[in-house]
Amino acid sequence: MPAESTVRRTDVVVDARPLLDAEAGVLALAVWPDDGPAPAEPGDGSPWIGPGGAEVADALGLDLFAALERDRGTGKAGEVVSVPVFAEGRGAASVDGEVDVTRVLLVGLGDGSATAYRRAGAALARAARGIDRLASAVTATADDAATRAFVEGAVLATYALGGFRGTPAPEAKRPLGMLVLTGDGARADVVDTAVAVAGASWIARDLAQTPSNVKDPEWLAEQARRIGAEHRLDVRVRDEKALADEGFGGILAVGQGSERPPRLIALRYEPPKAGKDTAHVVLVGKGITYDTGGLSLKPREGMVPMKTDMSGGAVVMGVLSAVRELGVDVRVTGLVAAAENMPGANAQRPSDVIRQYDGTTVEVLNTDAEGRLVLADGIGYAVAELEPTVIVDVATLTGAATTALGRGHGALYASSDELAAALREAGEAAGERLWRMPLVDDYRFGLDSSIADVSHIDTAHLGGGSIMAALFLQRFVGDVPWAHLDIAGPARADSDKVERTKGGTGFGVRALLYWLEAGAPVD
Ligand code: BES
Ligand code: MN
Ligand code: ZN
Repeated sequence: MPAESTVRRTDVVVDARPLLDAEAGVLALAVWPDDGPAPAEPGDGSPWIGPGGAEVADALGLDLFAALERDRGTGKAGEVVSVPVFAEGRGAASVDGEVDVTRVLLVGLGDGSATAYRRAGAALARAARGIDRLASAVTATADDAATRAFVEGAVLATYALGGFRGTPAPEAKRPLGMLVLTGDGARADVVDTAVAVAGASWIARDLAQTPSNVKDPEWLAEQARRIGAEHRLDVRVRDEKALADEGFGGILAVGQGSERPPRLIALRYEPPKAGKDTAHVVLVGKGITYDTGGLSLKPREGMVPMKTDMSGGAVVMGVLSAVRELGVDVRVTGLVAAAENMPGANAQRPSDVIRQYDGTTVEVLNTDAEGRLVLADGIGYAVAELEPTVIVDVATLTGAATTALGRGHGALYASSDELAAALREAGEAAGERLWRMPLVDDYRFGLDSSIADVSHIDTAHLGGGSIMAALFLQRFVGDVPWAHLDIAGPARADSDKVERTKGGTGFGVRALLYWLEAGAPVD
């Protein structure tokens, strides 16, 4: 079965020529609300059309204001009013007797914030499905951050995984082929950055969306090798034998119930100008390729979405795919702790005691709390062997994180206020909101075990399941600066919404890339 996406994502280019010279059959213009920030004469309550509007209206003989009024357009962010173009008995009007323009899309920019531009880009791309080439003046007055948000929104909104249907999607549903940003506003390097970031999210979504009859730990390792070859990263994969030899007791225990053995995948990026003092960021992703719960079996409905339980690992792989292109100047190692959590004759039992990579013994009381066991090995290995400046782990770790924050926010834990702030700000700018949660000292005793060094779940019925999981992980970081993203909520979407699409969302890729681009600040 084909594993890779066969859906082509939208290309985005910059073209300094005016909109009408960009040889596109569909044109897009900005619309600002009457009280919006555009340089206009406010007051009469009707929205304003952005740069290029007058020329387009003139050349094509359109009354764009009348079209807006007819559709009750207000210019709010993400609104798209589609104006069909007709001329003398034909379904299109030609510009200079050359390209036929069939449609003008009027795109609302609301308050002009980066968030509004992201919304506008996503809405425009959805409205432009099936179109080959679209020229847009929507970002004509946007700054770099807004242009970037617009392009990221556009490329992300029409994500689809190909390869699992007998017949390909109909042409009318395919992503827009080419988005041309006209005028001299948009910078090509900003656009390329945005496309690389969105592409990284596409990769993470592809991995998360792939069903688990196809996706097992070795499959994930194979994808890592492919990404590594394509983006010049060192990739090393430990198989079950190497894991046993080196003492990765957590990954092995979780994986032992499955016929498909576990892997530890490492992807390494070295910046071109790395020196002795170059920081080293280690990202650790939960790579459970299917989570049945193990012998502590999940109920029927709860199990269905668990093909996405490797979303943290997918995020790590997506991030690594883009760091070179983004010119990130810190070292980055991505670790993906991959295992399939199955009940089976050899599965671990609730009450087993295992030994993690760092030597800590853990009483396993619920085999459905498996993510923290594989992460603890990844983190312990990073601390012992990789000399990390900072460790960030990413995981669909607890249902409790979703209960606390819903699908819109990732739960953020950090060992310092500065690291928390840096990640939160990166997430805010990137359109991935993180909310800081407390590492409550008073709850630590809840992990006490009567037989081992520690239990992996709360035995004192303290509640706060996401916090308890974070406290367990914190035992393994020593004094290395550390952050933990529990993305159980936002890693999946039930429906298309702005730039997110139904299924695996790739949440975390953009926040981490924005943070890495800023030099991965820790304090
Ligand atoms: N993968 C799940 C967490 C999860 C649940 C992610 C729902 C997305 C949606 C994780 O392995 C798990 O099962 N966690 C348990 C922990 C509990 C047994 C302490 C949970 O959250 O119920
Ligand atoms: Mn589980
Ligand atoms: Zn899980």
